[in-house]
Amino acid sequence: MTLAYANAHRYARSRELFAEAAKLIPGGVNSTARATWSGWEPHPLFIDHGEGSHVVDVDGNRYIDYLLGLGPMLLGHRPPKVTQAVIAAIEKQGTMFALPSVDETKLARKIVAAVPSLDQVRLCNTGTEAVLYAVRLARACTGRNKVIRFEGMYHGFSDGVYWSKHPPVSGSQDRPIPVPQGPGLPKDIERSLIILNWNDSDGLKEAIAREGADIAAVLTEPVMCNTGCILPEPGYLEAMRELTQRAGIVLIFDEVITGFRLGLAGAQGHYGIKPDLSVFAKGIGGGFPVAAMGGRRDIMAFVAEGKVSMAGTYSANTIAVAAANAAMDELAKPGAYESLYARSQELIDGLRRILMDARVPAFVVGVGPVLQVWFSKHPIRNYRDAARHADHALFRKWWEGMLDRGVLFHPGAYENLFVSFAHTKADIEATLDAAREVAKTLID
Ligand SMILES: Cc1ncc(COP(=O)(O)O)c(C=O)c1O
Repeated sequence: MTLAYANAHRYARSRELFAEAAKLIPGGVNSTARATWSGWEPHPLFIDHGEGSHVVDVDGNRYIDYLLGLGPMLLGHRPPKVTQAVIAAIEKQGTMFALPSVDETKLARKIVAAVPSLDQVRLCNTGTEAVLYAVRLARACTGRNKVIRFEGMYHGFSDGVYWSKHPPVSGSQDRPIPVPQGPGLPKDIERSLIILNWNDSDGLKEAIAREGADIAAVLTEPVMCNTGCILPEPGYLEAMRELTQRAGIVLIFDEVITGFRLGLAGAQGHYGIKPDLSVFAKGIGGGFPVAAMGGRRDIMAFVAEGKVSMAGTYSANTIAVAAANAAMDELAKPGAYESLYARSQELIDGLRRILMDARVPAFVVGVGPVLQVWFSKHPIRNYRDAARHADHALFRKWWEGMLDRGVLFHPGAYENLFVSFAHTKADIEATLDAAREVAKTLID
């Protein structure tokens, strides 16, 4: 069934532009997460501009923005310091030279200082690339082939890991079957993947006991942010660290979402775990495409010695480096994260109260500035719980009600709401006012 907007007149110009775009651009969009089948039914909104915590669409609707470009706009839209740094870099330097610059070392120093598990770091452009490199490095340094990844996570769209993101629930809970994200992925990759259920240290222990000698890496988000927001249960990340360390398996934290968002040291700083390799992207560039992969010196030595190639024409281009240097300076300002956490907690607590008062069966789950509302009678601790219990129809009603009242986030229940450094107390209060109205409409 195709969904329609109840107040379609509000989004009429977006509808027209989408019809036009779809003639030339497959699906009318340039990335899956913006497609109708990812929730933007009957069409995505076309955005005119963003400023701080707000965006304005082509119909003139203004929104408090919790989509934040799917995460990168951690400092809000057009953060002045980052914008000025990028403009200055273009005007005074140029955009790329395929040779190093002193600013790259400055940036590397800031990143390594921020994240204690990093001895060294390399820059690239996207999270997809950074994950690909981390997995390749893990295989190179262990001489092993298999990679454990978890159902419900997303680690970018490269062939090696674009499996079992949100699969139909198949296989037993203990031995999920690897499911490719559509046709076109080489079938043989299946044999290099072990798919596990997250938040289950016994399952991980068994897999390592069974196949540890062939396992190069455990690849995980430290907080599951690609099936809504699911927090690690107490002791789970610690168990993961201990089990991988004992078996000589490289632990890769994919901090594309959590990095520089849960704190300057990311989720690993928040939970106090030191992975072997880490991947960062969305939080680091102040809205520009920058990613980073780094970790233990002995593993990074494979890159240093030229054994493992990390290439990339655009890697560490002048714009990316200027943006990330400026963004890191903003993030490092004293008290920055404290106020971000305070705003985010107001939102989480407020939503909890509102949904409870309205007797809506829901859980608001979040850590710092990442959160999601699960419309479910059951707590969600892994992807299979979500697949069984999350009420997507109710989520749609919630999402559209909020959209109509000027609050923007992704229409998919498996995505997140992100709070930025630009969100104000007034934004949170206005969001909660909207939520109060919408909550009343959710239970008939
Ligand atoms: C955890 C995680 N890893 C990797 C990626 C891929 O990053 P990119 O879209 O920059 O390629 C994403 C993107 O959403 C992500 O959420």
